[in-house]
Amino acid sequence: EAPVFDPDHRPESLEEAREAARHCRACPLWEPATQTVFGEGPKAAPVMFVGEQPGDQEDLAGEPFIGPAGQVFDAALAAAGIDRAQTYVTNAVKHFKFVPRGKRRIHQKPSGGEIAACRGWLDLERSFVAPKLVVAMGATAASSVLGRTVTIRSVRSQLIDLPAGGQALVTVHPSYLLRLPDPDAKAREEALFREDMARVRQAVPEIA
Ligand code: URA
Repeated sequence: EAPVFDPDHRPESLEEAREAARHCRACPLWEPATQTVFGEGPKAAPVMFVGEQPGDQEDLAGEPFIGPAGQVFDAALAAAGIDRAQTYVTNAVKHFKFVPRGKRRIHQKPSGGEIAACRGWLDLERSFVAPKLVVAMGATAASSVLGRTVTIRSVRSQLIDLPAGGQALVTVHPSYLLRLPDPDAKAREEALFREDMARVRQAVPEIA
């Protein structure tokens, strides 16, 4: 699979990668999207959170996890005593994929090809930030981080050693919690998500 950047001009820093990603045309998602939403956070953050792709608000603002899913994420971090500003937050896919419906833009799941096309950027972020722990939220992030298709259930909450160093922990995507219609199920799943965040804090206490 071809790298998303010119192999003769591999970005040599996180800043160079961010700049190069602004012009990415490796898949068709760039065209209807407002902008590339690259990761955000300290360049040597000990923890990297990976979501699926930016949503409507993220696409407009150019920042990850600031919309409704971001609020669920922030609340879980706060409950676990994690300072988001000490972590790096990004997505497996860096453009918003949507279909217009009236005035709204409805989120669409990225395809395997789109996830693969964007993986070079995530790999660059991982190599420059070199976090101790990568937290993959949802199946898209988990498959992209682990490099194989996985179900959440089969790998959730475990510390998984990564070939390139560091570990990964897989949990659900915060949007999944937003979509659960049954209040009991929602409360249960929220508690499990917060337990995973507590595991993250325990594994990397310096982000408290
Ligand atoms: N959902 C994601 O996966 N990422 C975001 O940045 C926002 C919503």
